[in-house]
Amino acid sequence: MVTPQEYIEQHTTPVGKVLDDIERWAHLHTSQPQMLCGPYEGRLLTLLCRSLQARCAVEIGTFVGYSTICIASGLADGGVLHTFEANEECEQHIRRHIAAAGLDGRIEVHIGDANALIPALLGDKTGVVDFAFIDGGKRQNRQFYELIMPYMRRGGLIVIDNTMWGGKVLDLDRHRDPDTICIDDFNNYVNGDSRVENVMLSVRDGMMICSVL
Ligand SMILES: C[S@@+](CC[C@H](N)C(=O)[O-])C[C@H]1O[C@@H](n2cnc3c(N)ncnc32)[C@H](O)[C@@H]1O
Repeated sequence: MVTPQEYIEQHTTPVGKVLDDIERWAHLHTSQPQMLCGPYEGRLLTLLCRSLQARCAVEIGTFVGYSTICIASGLADGGVLHTFEANEECEQHIRRHIAAAGLDGRIEVHIGDANALIPALLGDKTGVVDFAFIDGGKRQNRQFYELIMPYMRRGGLIVIDNTMWGGKVLDLDRHRDPDTICIDDFNNYVNGDSRVENVMLSVRDGMMICSVL
């Protein structure tokens, strides 16, 4: 008998060899391969982006480029993904993986703190971003959300990863660590935010999807 997750993955379009190879590489060469969004969530990111016909996307937290490739694969022709990664040691791996996927022309890699780099890049260009994926430091979720909000167009989507935090947010009496508290506070904040319509999915570690009104 297969598990529900195995059955779901068996009935989801595979992500392909390049992403499978990156996942294998991450398990062999990084200490936190679980940071990759993986094939199931990755396929959903591609489909969301494609459904929006996104031409401008932003990602906070590239790591080694797995979700980056998933998002960029769903962009409309001529679209661009700006991805931000604070850890400069990741840069060579990000660029190698993007090249292997043949997506160099669609992805702009920015190395440094997204909090400083996004305003420097987008300046006063409000309402231009179709799709944003927030997957950086979890205690900064609210900061990243407010950072990207003015740049979102109406009808654009903001997706925030790891909103279930391994189930810890379900039992706050037991889990009083700062990450869990920040993630739960952020989930409540979004849920009360009249600027968005939101749905939380139990995909992988939880994804909050916000449609900007
Ligand atoms: C969970 S990993 C990203 C995984 C990637 N999105 C994926 O699914 O393949 C989080 C990454 O965010 C980066 N990060 C954390 N804070 C950041 C910031 N302020 N600006 C840019 N990147 C940041 C970390 O260095 C780390 O590589």
